[in-house]
Amino acid sequence: MHRSKPAQFIFALFAFLMAFSVHAQKLPNVMILATGGTIAGTGATSTTTVGYTAATVGVQQLINAVPELRKVANVSGEQVFQIASESMTNEHWLTLGKRVNTLLAQPNVDGIVITHGTDTLEETAYFLNLVVKSRKPVVLVGAMRPSTALSADGPINLYNAVLIAGSQDAVGKGVLVALGDQIHSARDVTKANTSTPDAFKTAELGMMGYVQGPKAHFYRVSTRKHTTETEFDISSLNALPQVDIVYGYANMNAVALNAFIAAGAKGIIHAGTGDGSLAAKVKPDLIAARKSGTIIVRSSRVGQGILARNGEANDDELDFVVADTLNPQKARILLMLAMTKTSNTKELQRMFYTY
Ligand code: DGL
Repeated sequence: MHRSKPAQFIFALFAFLMAFSVHAQKLPNVMILATGGTIAGTGATSTTTVGYTAATVGVQQLINAVPELRKVANVSGEQVFQIASESMTNEHWLTLGKRVNTLLAQPNVDGIVITHGTDTLEETAYFLNLVVKSRKPVVLVGAMRPSTALSADGPINLYNAVLIAGSQDAVGKGVLVALGDQIHSARDVTKANTSTPDAFKTAELGMMGYVQGPKAHFYRVSTRKHTTETEFDISSLNALPQVDIVYGYANMNAVALNAFIAAGAKGIIHAGTGDGSLAAKVKPDLIAARKSGTIIVRSSRVGQGILARNGEANDDELDFVVADTLNPQKARILLMLAMTKTSNTKELQRMFYTY
């Protein structure tokens, strides 16, 4: 059948649009929620890898800088905040957690990527690990170099994060952290270097897998409850209980502890030396704080290992809680959420052995 030129063009265009539509329908729908950080940062020169300005590039610019994203997902962006992550607050977390839950409840959203500064990325990830009420993938991603730097790691990290967020293999694995081709669990990962691209580690408990080629490869999962399995619900929360961290060191005193309590702290994470040891100059004030109703959680500044109950202190007698393997900054997050449910220390200790 002979077709006129216009008819041939219209037919070809229709065929292309149909093929594109079928292809697009096969791709997962991934939302990118941007919060700021180095991944959105800019430096004065291409060799500026420290001393740059974080949180200057908008989400659409981040997406446009990686056209490859559209080959692996239908992506859309939302600028939730634009901050350097050292300034993240409980209020930011509640806003972000509620937005994530709203979006994941939509059938047209298959996964979420959150671009974030690396300073507190592990904390936001763990908070979301405890409050997201969906099995759909949520992947936090950052960069150690600003977008203007030679070998900026943001674009490939963002591409990998979108790949994971759109992957069926990532469903039900809890909130994930993806940098440097590695996949980590929100519960156990930490930023272990101030500035190098391989900063994120799950040192002893082990990362979950890798991103290689256009695929996420998983080799282990976290044994602790997360997302839909948790008892925490932030939907009606507008604030979290004030919990602060007291850092342990030689020659420490109780000034910081007592200042936090005077300022209204309902819980204290004691980031002790070694296995959560209590210095002689501080222990009486911790005991007094507990007796006045403040929840005391023994954690450790060390970073790895189990915080043994009734090891360096008689927790049963003092009515203290121990943080298990959570570092102090993550123990703070769990205690804040736990205290929205109870102040019973036996219940709190159960939660630290559950999440
Ligand atoms: N200001 C730090 C932050 O926003 C920069 C670190 C980074 O994002 O890599 O977390």
